[in-house]
Amino acid sequence: MRDFNEHNITQAVIDRFAGTPDARLKEIMNSLVTHLHDFVRDVEPSFAEWETAIGFLTRTGQMCDDKRQEFILLSDTLGVSMLVDAINHRMPEGATETTVLGPFYVQGPPEFENGADISGGLKGEMLFVEARVAAADGTPLVGATVDVWQSDDDGFYDVQRPELKDAALRGRFKTNDAAKTWFRTILPAAYPIPYDGPVGDMLRATNRHPWRPAHVHFMIAAPGYETLVTHVFVAGDQYLDSDAVFGVKNSLISEFPEHPPGKMPDGVESATPWRELTYNFGLKPLEGVEQR
Ligand SMILES: [Fe+2]
Repeated sequence: MRDFNEHNITQAVIDRFAGTPDARLKEIMNSLVTHLHDFVRDVEPSFAEWETAIGFLTRTGQMCDDKRQEFILLSDTLGVSMLVDAINHRMPEGATETTVLGPFYVQGPPEFENGADISGGLKGEMLFVEARVAAADGTPLVGATVDVWQSDDDGFYDVQRPELKDAALRGRFKTNDAAKTWFRTILPAAYPIPYDGPVGDMLRATNRHPWRPAHVHFMIAAPGYETLVTHVFVAGDQYLDSDAVFGVKNSLISEFPEHPPGKMPDGVESATPWRELTYNFGLKPLEGVEQR
């Protein structure tokens, strides 16, 4: 076939994928071509605009390395990450809602015993965190793996501070015999997503702010359950209704009450006032896996 025009080229491209052996890949390519062509027909870009788009995507890829993931940021700020999350996590009653992974998770975080201080000596308001982990039906989950990571008092993650030698404000814990994990840290601050790259250019050009409300990230894994990726947000944050990545859900907002100096829940004395986060997490059983 020849003489392709704006009316027949879409079907011609779809036909070219007709021999794709993997049925799912074929379905995805057909849909991609259909929607991409419809988008182009809708927008009718000039060549200059098309070149701008190619340049934008090129810079997005070039911005990525082992510590910076600009494509995840792009997905997040376009609401695609939360859409994928919503489609994949239709949660049963009792299961904690999910939200975006975000770009700051680091594989293989340092492992700690319960009660440890993960602040790395960084300044901030002391925060005592207790996470209780159960199945959606309330069954306590002993030995669950709880990964946490968060921003510091200035809104930066450790990977954004090249002067830090070691990981800070991130770690891996296991729930104890009472299905609890607890640790000391500092209160996280709201922060702008990195906006010195193409995603920041997009936000500026569209008059959007880059801020995320303060939160602590959790990734909780237990055999037989879907790994839970979520955050707990600090109630009252000014950005809860305008999160740059659309990640806020009401059920994930928690009070972080302030306490005077004195004993924290694990019996350790704090010489300074301290904040507290206690949150009950519920994990969704994996489908097709028999529960013990
Ligand atoms: Fe975050």
